[in-house]
Parts: sequence; structure tokens; C-alpha cells
Amino acid sequence: MKIEELQAVVPTSNMGSYEQAYNNFQWEDVERHFTWYETGKVNMAHEAIDRHVEEGRGEKAALLYCDANRHETYTFSQLRASSNRFGNVLRKYGIGKGERVFIFMPRSPELVISMLGVLKVGAVVGPLFEAFMETAVKDRLEDSGAVALVTTPALLSRVKREELPELRHIFVVGDMDEREQGIIDFETEMLTSSEELEPEWLSREDGLIIHYTSGSTGKPKGVYHVQNAMIQHYYTGKMVLDLREDDVYWCTADPGWVTGTSYGIFAPWLNGATNVIRGGRFSPEDWYRTIERHEVTIWYSAPTAFRMLMSAGEQVVSNYDLSSLRHVLSVGEPLNPEVVRWGWQVYTQRIHDTWWMTETGGQLICNYPELPIKPGSMGKPLPGIQAAILDDRGQVLPPNRMGHLAIRTPWPSMMNRIWNNPNKFQEYFRFPGWYVSGDSAYMDEDGYFWFQGRIDDVINSSGERIGPFEVESKLLEHPAVAEAGVIGKPDTVRGEIIKAFVALRDGYTASEALQQDIYRFVKEGLSAHAAPREIEFKEKLPKTRSGKIMRRVLKAWELNLPTGDLSTIED
Ligand code: WTA
Repeated sequence: MKIEELQAVVPTSNMGSYEQAYNNFQWEDVERHFTWYETGKVNMAHEAIDRHVEEGRGEKAALLYCDANRHETYTFSQLRASSNRFGNVLRKYGIGKGERVFIFMPRSPELVISMLGVLKVGAVVGPLFEAFMETAVKDRLEDSGAVALVTTPALLSRVKREELPELRHIFVVGDMDEREQGIIDFETEMLTSSEELEPEWLSREDGLIIHYTSGSTGKPKGVYHVQNAMIQHYYTGKMVLDLREDDVYWCTADPGWVTGTSYGIFAPWLNGATNVIRGGRFSPEDWYRTIERHEVTIWYSAPTAFRMLMSAGEQVVSNYDLSSLRHVLSVGEPLNPEVVRWGWQVYTQRIHDTWWMTETGGQLICNYPELPIKPGSMGKPLPGIQAAILDDRGQVLPPNRMGHLAIRTPWPSMMNRIWNNPNKFQEYFRFPGWYVSGDSAYMDEDGYFWFQGRIDDVINSSGERIGPFEVESKLLEHPAVAEAGVIGKPDTVRGEIIKAFVALRDGYTASEALQQDIYRFVKEGLSAHAAPREIEFKEKLPKTRSGKIMRRVLKAWELNLPTGDLSTIED
């Protein structure tokens, strides 16, 4: 963003430089851009969609949806009308403010419309990635106390309804042979409901969305965000994504993950941009064709995808016209300097790394257009954000020292709670005044931050966060498995892959067939992205005296590193 445009977002500051922008920044100057700044009536779906209709942009293309079978355009007016319809459907079934409504379906216009409809009635939306299987779906619906679900006929069989007493209604998008009790046909209901609806007016502290994400211990946690997050979404949409009136923006992430909502839905529409959503699987040809066909100007993706595009080669790129691109960004895992260089050579685009997390709700440390890129660095804290590296006691470290990457609290999109788990929530704020990310990093003398790794055992495979505990729990349900320990193994394309160490029960012998069976068991019970691509059988796994598997020792085995302090090991 140019200084002049930044001034439009932050009108009171008189900026000559980044430093000045940083020093003069006030969140309140961003807040003035929302209708609720005057009216006090807050609703994300209203700000993202209806507002543009009210301000004369109703006929502008809001959504360009494409997959192998569908190419559809929806204007802001159309999204307003259809999300109102679904809002009315929800109200008809008595669903409203604060209740959790989950959406479990592949990317599609209906996914987006349902999500907006949920937000219109003030309910809290919970997106579930389509690859989740029975256990993963059940854990999330149960923990959140979801009252309703929107899904497809194909995914419905993964929903254990008899074990989810709080789940009252299931809306099914698509044809089903038989109608069962409690199953509601989405299309039929939409046809008979009104296009007009008064949104539920909320306060800034009312709920918006729950994303389940993994830590190193326990089941996935429900990261709960409130309406106030829209301030960050709007601001970073301008400041980092550089969204302008005529842009066609494409974020490749699925709304099952936070990038697919904060930056696949909220940020682009709060800024009134035309937003591309592509369904279906990754394929270099389809992806480049999407950029060419829609003349995408801003493209937000992830290192694994860029590495896969890189390995598909330059030849493929030359078959497409990608000249519409003017800004490219990345998130989710470390962005290798080679990828940044390749992007420059082949797309003539600088790939801008951005750092943030599910818990932070929005971007915090970034390479934004104004900033010269240091390939390999995540960039600098945005104006309004203060970041630091802390030691183990919470003291700020000087430049070039590695430690805990931490952010000064609060900022607008900071999570509001961990659903049902105040203790987990508190752990992030153990050093007063700071949010502790769980990442390790250092800051150089120019104020750029450099990612070093996770401090805990969380695995990052293809930018998807996987908790070893969830995978280990599933492995232990397999009849052959006595003990299981799961780690991330470095991988040149995916960043990390999931590797499991398994000790077998008596009577089972290690074999390739058993390996495959265990892999399938996790894939079908939990999800494909959480299934261990590598399984190694061991007589016994290293455990502490209290019986906890020592993943750090497994990792040292894998990487041929010293195992370190073993004083707590069992024997
Ligand atoms: C990692 C995704 C290196 C990091 C938005 C973080 C990154 C976790 C970067 C959050 C980056 C995210 N460079 N690592 N630019 N961005 N990460 O919650 O470990 O799915 O803690 O949020 O991904 O993953 P999450």
C-alpha cells in the first residue's frame, strides 16, 4: 500500500516513513471505517456483504466460484439475498445468537452462503475441514456443543448423530435418497424462505467463529474469536494484502482452516474485493488456469503449494498468462528463500511471507508491500502490533537471540477464549502483558523476525497444524498397537511429514501389510492429513517414569541427534 492509501486508512497520522506510521498508529482510526462506529450495531456479515449493497456496490462481483463442474459468479446483492434466506431458515428452526452452528462440506458457494447466514443471525460458525473423519468430527461437535450442522450427503455418514445429543438439526446440501428424522433439505428450505432479514445486532465482544486447532497435548482446542476481529481483518486486508477497489483476489486456503476464513472470506469482503474461491484438489494446471481466467491480481497461498508448483517446473508456467498478478503472499510455514527467488524469476513477483496463527485471528508479522523483503524472514510487526523475543522467564531478549516469539496484548483479532478450557487459554498468557505463540524465533538488528521452529511438539505438515496427541490416541485404538509416539519428520516439499513410532502388542508381528493397515485406520478414523506417512516399529518406546512418551527422544533418533537429558526416562 502506498503511503497515501495508508493515510486513508489511518487518517490522523502524518506518515513519512514506516517508523512514523508505526509510532502514530491508532486502532481507533481503523474502527472509524465500520458502520458500527456510528450506529453501535455490529454484525460481520453485514459489514462484509450488506454494507456494499447499501453503498451502491450491490452489482459488483463478490464471489467467483470455480471447480471442475461449476463456474459461478455471485454479486454482493446475490450473496446478501441468499445469506438472508439461510438466516431465515435458521431462525425458523429456532437457532440464533451465540449458538454454535458447524459447517462440514467441501468448498462451494453453499458453504459460503451458509456461513454468512449463520453470522447474520448472530450464531457462532464452526468450520470443519472436509477431510475429517468420524472421530475428528465428533470431538469437535461435542466439545463445542453445536446445535446444528450444514453438510453434504457424502459427508453425513461421518457424523455420529446418536452420540451427539445437542446436535438438533442437520441441513443437507444435495440430493439424498431418503429423508431421515432431523435431516433438513437445504435447497427446499432456501426456496421457501424470504430474502429479507434484519441481522442480529451484536456487540464487538459477541462470538464470531470457532476454529479447532492442535496443540501438543490433549484434544484439539476450540479457538473462539469475537466480532471485534473484523478490525484486524479489514486493516490487514488493506495494509498487507493491499486490496484495492478493482482487485481480483484469490486465497487458496480452505475455510476449514483459519486462513480460509480470515483471509478467504472476511478480509476480502470487508474491503469489498472480488473474491475467487476454487474447489477441488491442487493441480498446477488448474491453479494457473484459475489465475489466467479470472485475471487474479492478488494471490495468497502457502509454501507447500509454492514448492509443489516449483517442482512442476517453469514449462507449465509458460503455458499460462499470469501477467494480471501484482501481489503474491504466503502463510502457514517457513517460506524458503529459494521459493522467494523462484517466484521472482518465474512469476516476476516477490512472494511476501506473513506470520500469524489460528489464535491470533489475523496477520501480525509480515512483509507488506512497503517493506524491502529479506528472503527467509517473516517480516516486521505491523503498525499497531508489538512483537518481541522472550527468554524462559518472560524477559525481552536483545536482537539476534533466539527465544519465545511473543506479542504484546491485546490486538483486535486476539482469540477471546479457548472453548471449555480456561486453563489452556491461560497458558498462552503466562508472562504478564504477552501472548506467547509457541514458536521460537529471533529478531535481527533491523527489526525483522526469523522463524526457528516450534517450542512444543506441534507438527506442521503442508501448512496444516497437527497435534501428535490426537494421532497417537487414534493409533492406540488399533488392535495391534501397544504404544505410539508421533513426530514431524523434515520433508522438502511438505515441510514436515507425520512419522509414527509404534510398539506392537504381543501376538502381532511387524509387516508392510500391518503398516498399511495402521495408516488406513488413522486415515479413515481421523483424517488423511493426520495419517502417518511413515510408520516405524520398535520393541519399546522411550517413556518418562510417569509413562509419557518422550517425543524429543524419538525426534533425536530420527535426526541422528544426541538424545539430551535422559534423567527422567523409565529405565
Ligand atoms: C506456523 C496458520 C513460519 C507457526 C495461519 C505457527 C509459520 C503456526 C508462518 C500456526 C510463517 C505460520 N513462517 N511458520 N510465515 N505462518 N507458521 O494456527 O508455527 O494453522 O505457530 O495458522 O504455523 O498455524 P495455524
